[in-house]
Amino acid sequence: MGKWTVEELTPGKTVEATFWPNAAEGSAFKLRATHLDGRRTPKVVLSNDERIVAGVPCVVRVVVVHKPEREDRGRIEVEFVGRAPFRIEGVYLDPVVSKKLQVCLEGGLNILLDGPQGCGKTVLARSIADSLGMAFVFFNCGAVVEASDFFVTIQVRASASGAPVTDFIKTDILIAIEQAADHPETRYLVFLDELNRCQESARNALMPALDATRRVFHPIENTFIPIPDNVQFIAAVNRGREFSGTFGIDAAQLDRFAPLQMTYPPPHAEQDILARRHPELSATNLEIIVAVADAVRNAPDLPGTLSVRATDEACVYLAHPLFAADGKRALPEILKTSFCGRFTGRWDDVTSDAGAVWALIRKALATFQIAVEEPGSKPGSKRGDA
Ligand SMILES: Nc1ncnc2c1ncn2[C@@H]1O[C@H](COP(=O)(O)OP(=O)(O)O)[C@@H](O)[C@H]1O
Ligand SMILES: [Mg+2]
Repeated sequence: MGKWTVEELTPGKTVEATFWPNAAEGSAFKLRATHLDGRRTPKVVLSNDERIVAGVPCVVRVVVVHKPEREDRGRIEVEFVGRAPFRIEGVYLDPVVSKKLQVCLEGGLNILLDGPQGCGKTVLARSIADSLGMAFVFFNCGAVVEASDFFVTIQVRASASGAPVTDFIKTDILIAIEQAADHPETRYLVFLDELNRCQESARNALMPALDATRRVFHPIENTFIPIPDNVQFIAAVNRGREFSGTFGIDAAQLDRFAPLQMTYPPPHAEQDILARRHPELSATNLEIIVAVADAVRNAPDLPGTLSVRATDEACVYLAHPLFAADGKRALPEILKTSFCGRFTGRWDDVTSDAGAVWALIRKALATFQIAVEEPGSKPGSKRGDA
């Protein structure tokens, strides 16, 4: 797409731009851009809107175009509308979820990412921090038993005399809360991964602290300390397709987080993710792997699901010289391992989940003209690629 025409840039139009400090001498405008939506503008784009941060992509609205009749002069004045949508290299994010996420981040709301395992909650949280220039604090909640475990770990060691001494060691969360108070200019993103896996009582003690009271007990200083406003929390919970109950989070506590539902990337997006990581694999092979995974994910009555890790693992096998020579014919064996292996039971036990998955894999592979032997057929008779 070429340069904008003045006629296209009517007042009220919203577009994306990245501004930089305006170096032009004597100009009344502090910020300047030369492209809107990636296209060159016929006149310089200027703004004094305080909400625009230099170097950070944002969405702006055209307010007025000065001297529209002249080719060589004039300016386009714009005002800030909002932060530009996330566009994170290598991470797929549903556009609707992306919008909601921005609203929550701008409003300083705590966010609960809720989705099946391996749908990208962790990579997303990390990328948000990267793209917004926030300091990222990763905390896995799996080992938390008591609420204080979020803030300190207790270590017992022997003193010189041999008597046991208890050391309190600050967790990254506590360190971030302390640092945030000293560095109000830095925004901290504390990511509470797998919040569903910690003890329910600990979780329920934590939630109001994050939101309603915004203060936490500092077990070393033995006092409550405030959580500064420049600390934002994102929690992630894994749940399968069952969507049953609230994984032990009290409804009133859950209410303090803005929940965002995530799902697996659509097949085309997953193929793109995998193609970027495994450029040596053919588009057809990637299509097959993703299509089979999609069939398993969409099958009714299967507890558990397949993450993007599972499709990624299949790609790692297929790209390896030990399997690559067989091409497509290696797929049944690989999927048996990477897909069936993630369910209970065995691939050759038709009554088990893994067996049900194997049946789904065979059926899906057949649509790509890849035939597979049935479980129970005699070993030695053309294995893997009948
Ligand atoms: N939407 C996505 N975009 C890019 N990569 C993804 C996406 N979802 C999953 N992945 C990849 O799959 C793996 C697992 O993702 P992760 O973020 O750890 O999942 P979760 O935290 O939801 O369990 C990672 O290697 C990640 O890069
Ligand atoms: Mg995760």
